[in-house]
Amino acid sequence: MAKERLDKLLAHEGFGSRKDIRKLLRSCEVLVNGKQIYDPGFAVDAEKDNISVDGEEVNLHKNLYLMMNKPQHYVCSTKEGDHETVFDLLDDSLRTPYLQEKLHLVGRLDMDTEGLLLFTTDGELTHRLISPKSHISKTYLCGLEHAETAEHQAEITKQFEAGIEVGPEDNEQGFTAQPAQITWLNDTTAQLTIYEGKYHQVKRMFAAVGNKIVYLKRISMGQLKLDKELELGKYKELTDKDLELIV
Ligand code: URA
Repeated sequence: MAKERLDKLLAHEGFGSRKDIRKLLRSCEVLVNGKQIYDPGFAVDAEKDNISVDGEEVNLHKNLYLMMNKPQHYVCSTKEGDHETVFDLLDDSLRTPYLQEKLHLVGRLDMDTEGLLLFTTDGELTHRLISPKSHISKTYLCGLEHAETAEHQAEITKQFEAGIEVGPEDNEQGFTAQPAQITWLNDTTAQLTIYEGKYHQVKRMFAAVGNKIVYLKRISMGQLKLDKELELGKYKELTDKDLELIV
């Protein structure tokens, strides 16, 4: 683990700007492993070192949980390719070496999908939520290319509830989707809840009934709903209450 500047770490922990932290180092007792430090550039190992400010321990190992309203045209990847990644939407204060190594996505959304995307440093939570044994619900708002008649809507609802056969795509084999629930909002818009996360799953489920997704947005995971106040491309830290909705 690369070492990080003390001022950057403290800024990330909410102690203010780097300028504020220079002042803090002069006016407060900031200890690293029990030794008072005045140098804002002092190198700290976030994994091992203990930091305290006026006797209060700074918890550097606290997990971080973020909810983003992902916009279209951003890829869910850490790699710089032809497209910007969702990590490019994060603030500079989240670009510490520690977070660069630990912060990851809880599942992915396609480049043209919007909506609820979770980032965390908590590998255990991620494992629990994305392992094939996890059947956490994911609800999507789906915009369809072709209008569906009431009869065909009822037919699709029945097929999705029974578990529809989904065809292969790219290198992925076909599969039988787990039973899923659909609510029709109008003849081209529906809300679909699925309990797994296979490659292009929602798009492939609608392809299997002869339609095509033209707009897709994830609006909830488990009981956790996308915050309606969160603009596209913005993110916020999850509260403990939010977390209880997905654990
Ligand atoms: N299903 C899809 O087809 N795409 C997504 O991004 C998410 C679910």
